[in-house]
Amino acid sequence: MTKFIGIEACVFDAYGTLFDVHSAVGKHRARLGDEADAVSAMWRAKQLEYTWQRTILKRYVDFWRVTADGLDFALDTHGVDDSALRDDLLHAYLNLDCYPEVPGVLSILKEAGILTAILSNGSPMMLEAAVDSAGMDDMLDAVVSVDELGMYKPSAEVYQLAMDELDVGRGQVSFQSSNAWDAAAAATFGFRVAWCNRFGQVRERLPDAPDVEIRTLDELPAIVLP
Ligand code: LAC
Repeated sequence: MTKFIGIEACVFDAYGTLFDVHSAVGKHRARLGDEADAVSAMWRAKQLEYTWQRTILKRYVDFWRVTADGLDFALDTHGVDDSALRDDLLHAYLNLDCYPEVPGVLSILKEAGILTAILSNGSPMMLEAAVDSAGMDDMLDAVVSVDELGMYKPSAEVYQLAMDELDVGRGQVSFQSSNAWDAAAAATFGFRVAWCNRFGQVRERLPDAPDVEIRTLDELPAIVLP
């Protein structure tokens, strides 16, 4: 089994890794009918695409706005014209379900003296709401948002920000993301990386690969703890 040696901090991506982004549509599934899964998938895909576009174009707006834009595109594409539903879906993003193993894993890491943090595209307002509603405040040493940089992942500056906030070296960080492109970029940056492949996706064709692939975060403590 792969072991990461000398880890002092576990840094987690938020959306898709700790929080289930599809739980927003899940809460309003009946109102979307047969289109629900397609809307949710397109919403997420567009949200991410817009972060990449806006970073390259140097036209940053925060993740709340990008999330709304992605939702509007998805609803428009699927011919859903319902402003009450649109607002309910968007606000559901503020209290997404966390994956069931997350609180337990964070507790194990904290008890072992490992620093725990979120590093996310999410705006401070969104992350605060998500962490609050999942009752995770006491389990995290830092919640780091890209917002102060005005650019999104996979910019190297974003991964650097987590190191600066936690005051740890590059080789002392284990980074976890279920987003394969985020995991690949963190590997390029020089973190040790566990790709939490929740959805059984095939590997990306990007310059660098994560060090280890896990199915849920339950597998993480055995990798990072001595
Ligand atoms: C985040 C997105 C990439 O939380 O899921 O940063």
